[in-house]
Formats: sequence, structure tokens, C-alpha cells
Amino acid sequence: MKGIKVFSYVIFVLFIISLSGRCYGEVELDISPMEKTEQDALYSTIQGFVGDRWNGSDLYPDPCGWTPIQGVSCDFFNGLWYVTVLNIGPIHDNSLSCAKKLEFRPHLFELKHLKSLSFFKCFQSQHKHQVTIPNGNWNKLAGSLESLEFRSNTGLVGKVPSSFGVLKNLQSLVLLENGLTGKVPPEIGNLIKLKRLVLSSNYFNGQIPDMFNGLSELLIFDLSRNLLSGTLPLSLGRLTSLLKLDLSHNYLEGNLIKEFAYLKNLTLLDLRNNRFSGGLTLSFQELYSLEEMVLSNNAIGGNMRTLKWENLQNLVILDLSNIGLIGEIPESMSKLKRLRFLGLSDNNLTGNLSPKLSTLPSLNALYVSGNNLTGELNFSKNFYGKMGTRFGAWSNPNLCYQIGVMSESHVPFGVKPCHHEIKLLESNARTYKLLNGYVNKTSHTIASLGFLSCAPNGFCWTFLQEILIMCVVLNFYIGL
Ligand SMILES: *[C@@H]1O[C@H](CO)[C@@H](O)[C@H](O)[C@H]1NC(C)=O
Ligand SMILES: *[C@@H]1O[C@H](CO)[C@@H](O)[C@H](O)[C@H]1NC(C)=O
Ligand SMILES: *[C@@H]1O[C@H](CO)[C@@H](O)[C@H](O)[C@H]1NC(C)=O
Ligand SMILES: *[C@@H]1O[C@H](CO)[C@@H](O)[C@H](O)[C@H]1NC(C)=O
Ligand SMILES: *[C@@H]1O[C@H](CO)[C@@H](O)[C@H](O)[C@H]1NC(C)=O
Ligand SMILES: *[C@@H]1O[C@H](CO)[C@@H](O)[C@H](O)[C@H]1NC(C)=O
Repeated sequence: MKGIKVFSYVIFVLFIISLSGRCYGEVELDISPMEKTEQDALYSTIQGFVGDRWNGSDLYPDPCGWTPIQGVSCDFFNGLWYVTVLNIGPIHDNSLSCAKKLEFRPHLFELKHLKSLSFFKCFQSQHKHQVTIPNGNWNKLAGSLESLEFRSNTGLVGKVPSSFGVLKNLQSLVLLENGLTGKVPPEIGNLIKLKRLVLSSNYFNGQIPDMFNGLSELLIFDLSRNLLSGTLPLSLGRLTSLLKLDLSHNYLEGNLIKEFAYLKNLTLLDLRNNRFSGGLTLSFQELYSLEEMVLSNNAIGGNMRTLKWENLQNLVILDLSNIGLIGEIPESMSKLKRLRFLGLSDNNLTGNLSPKLSTLPSLNALYVSGNNLTGELNFSKNFYGKMGTRFGAWSNPNLCYQIGVMSESHVPFGVKPCHHEIKLLESNARTYKLLNGYVNKTSHTIASLGFLSCAPNGFCWTFLQEILIMCVVLNFYIGL
């Protein structure tokens, strides 16, 4: 690619030279007109990131025209071209890629029509040449900048400058997978046009600032995978347009606030892996748009039955694993017709598992392992067949499955067969043999196992067995 570019540039230069030869000097070059300051600012800005050996004016004499730079876009304002988009980092093969030792040059802030600035895998040095985001001059971009993104820059460290708060036109601020530290600057709350705020996978700590009063246009808010602690700020409830809220993988604690009820358009709520407590808030049952609700691995506690789950008709994924729930699994779960994943593992749930759950048309994963469920699993053979390993009910010591409906391949892992069924089959096996000359494979196996376990006091067992069989035979004839 580069070869072709250089080649075509050589041709272009030869062409110009031949023209100037003919016309004795002055030529009107068809170059996109730019202010010299704008053009120089562009070259210098890029050079700061990609290294001094990169000579912009040499390689790209017409950056908004004949010799476009990968990752740079321009727009036309009042007869001149200005840079509007600058993407640094290896997005395409021929993208600008960053040097080991690099710097933010002040020229960046001279690009007065810059709308979108992004850095991807640019600041990578882990030790020697770590970089911080400069604090000054962002005000110069306040009128134009709409999107600012630092993504996967492991060598980008230090704090987020509070001066980001002047970027009044910002609609998207993405600081994802960097090495940023310190508090989330409350000045972000000034960015009232924000639609997307992603601060995920950094090392932000401290509390989430109570800064959301003005952010009524925010659609996506992601603070996941940081070191945030403390309680939820009440102003979260002002994010009335919000579609996605992800606060997972932090150290957040305290109650799930009732202000969640204001997030009527929320489709994703992910609070997993935190330290929330205080029970499920009733306001959850007003999140009518919710499609994914993931609360797993918290200390939330409380009874599942306190919520009217049937209100959440759009739920597709519900994960309440390991949050200290008590009580019985409400039958209203079986009204969530779109539900595909239901995770209730590792709680303290009691009572029976309603076979109605198997009527959920979309369900393809159901985990209830690690609870204290009791009684019989009354699901159909088809249900176990359909779910396979995506049905998990192990570690419920008082739960059993009905052996009659089960083919051996569909026995739910880690669940024991129901006791009275065994007795019945132990005795029936012989009876069937006696009466019909027919032995069911499954029941025969169980009967043999029963015999083996009783072998040490074989006489006694055989005696008992004969009595049982007599009873069954008698019953049979009385039944007739
Ligand atoms: C870049 O190239 C131009 C033209 O070839 C040259 O005049 C200039 O000195 C070079 N600049 C640097 C910093 O090497
Ligand atoms: C919620 O979504 C609906 C439908 O998409 C939209 O009309 C409404 O304005 C949204 N509400 C808010 C507060 O953004
Ligand atoms: C479940 O209840 C038992 C007894 O009440 C308690 O010891 C245990 O810690 C509880 N487990 C969970 C996960 O809450
Ligand atoms: C399962 O079936 C048995 C007998 O058919 C019944 O006694 C029991 O209540 C049922 N359990 C559930 C959870 O429906
Ligand atoms: C499970 O429930 C039974 C009663 O159904 C109770 O006796 C037992 O202590 C419970 N086990 C745990 C670990 O909570
Ligand atoms: C015997 O097993 C088959 C499947 O292997 C099953 O269809 C049948 O219902 C079983 N009969 C009894 C009496 O358990």
C-alpha cells in the first residue's frame, strides 16, 4: 500500500514539474485549501504520537485532499478545509500507529473544528514511558468536540482531568481499558449532551459522584470493572433516558435504591460482583423495559416473592445467583414468556420447583443448584432432553427426581432419584417379572443396586422383599 502511495505521489510530482516547465513557474495546484496553522497543527499533533521520523508535510502535502491520512477526516467551513476526525492507533493496516515514546503536543488543541478524537492501543508502555492526559486547553475544543475515546491504552495512567467538564458538546466519552486511576471527576456531570459514558476497566476508586442531575439524555452508562466503593448516588434516578446501566465488578455497597424505578427505558441492568445488600428493591418491578437483569454475587438477601416478577414481561436474562435469597421460587416466574436464562444458584431458596417453569417457551438455561429446594422434580422427559447440561439442580440435598419418566441419559446431574420410587421399583421389578415376564431396564438396574447394597444381610433383605412382593401381588389382585 505504502509503495503504491509513494509511487503515485512521485508520478504526481513529476506531473507538476512538467507542468511548471511548460508554464514557466506559477501553477494553480488543485490542493484543498487549508490554513497553514491548521495544517501544521495536524502534522505536529500526529508527529507527537507517531514519532519524529514521521514527516507529514513530506508524506501528505494535501491531507484533506489528494493525500489523505488514514484516520483523519476533514470538513469544509467557509471555503477552507479543517480536520474534524482524528483516530490514532492500529484500526486498519495502514493506520497511524504510535511510537514507544510519545507526547500530547499543544497543537492538538489548535484543531478548532475537531469533532471526534480517539486513541486505540496507542499508549502501551507499561513502565518507562507512561502517559497522562493533559489537563490544560480542553476548553479550546469545547465548541466542537462531540466524541472523545481512549480505548485499550494500558500505558495511559493518572487521573481523568477535571477540565473534561468544559467539553459541553460531548455526546460520547469512552475511557475503556486504560490504566486510569483516581476518582471519577464529578465535572463529567456538566456534560449535559452526553449519550454514552463508558469508564469501564480502569482503576477508578472512591464513590460514584452524585453528578447525574443534568444527564437526562444519557443512554449508556458503564462503570464496570473498576475499584469503586461506597453507596449508589440518588441522582442515578435522573438518568431517565438510560438504556444500559453496568456497574458490575466493583466494591459498591449499601441498598439498591428506590430511584431505580425512574429508569423506565432501561433494558440492561448489570450489578453483578459487588457488595450490595438490603434486599431486592420493590422499584425493580417497575422496570418494564428490562431485558437483562444480572445481580449475581452480591449480599442482597431478602425474599424473591416480594417482587411482582410478572411485570417484567421483557426479561430475557435473569441472573440472581449467589445473592442470599430466601423463600420459595415464585410461580409468577413462569409468566415471563421471553425468559431464556434463569440463574438462581447458590441462594437459600426453599420449597418445590414448579413444573410450570418448563412451560416457558424460550427457556434454554435453568440453574437452581446450591439451594435447599425440596420434593420431586416433576419435569417431563422432553424438558430434560431439551435442556441437557443447561439444567443444573445439584447440591439441593432434599431434592429428587422421579425415576419413572427418566431415560438414563437425561438424569439431572447431582440429583438423587426419589426414595419412594426406589422402593416401588425394587419390589415392582420382581413383580413385573413374575406377572408379565417383563423387566424394565432402568428399574432392573436400580433393583440390582438395591440388592447389592443389602447383600451383607442378604437373608433379611430377601425376606423383606418377598413380603413386599406379596403385598404388591395382593394389591394387584384386590385391585382387579
Ligand atoms: C519534512 O520534509 C520537508 C520536505 O521534504 C522538509 O523540507 C522538512 O525539513 C522535513 N521536516 C523534518 C522535520 O524532517
Ligand atoms: C423511552 O422510550 C420511548 C420509546 O422508545 C421514547 O418515546 C421515550 O421518549 C423514552 N423516554 C425517555 C425518558 O427517554
Ligand atoms: C442459608 O441459610 C443457612 C441457615 O440459615 C445459613 O447458615 C447460610 O449461610 C445461608 N446461606 C446463604 C448463601 O445465605
Ligand atoms: C410432583 O408430583 C408429585 C406426585 O405426582 C406431587 O405429589 C408433587 O406435589 C409434585 N411436585 C411439584 C413440585 O409439583
Ligand atoms: C433445608 O431445609 C430443611 C427443611 O426443609 C431444614 O431442615 C434444613 O436445615 C435446611 N438446610 C439449610 C442448609 O438451610
Ligand atoms: C421403562 O423404561 C422406558 C424407557 O426406557 C419407559 O418408557 C417406561 O415408561 C419404563 N416403564 C416403567 C414401568 O417404568
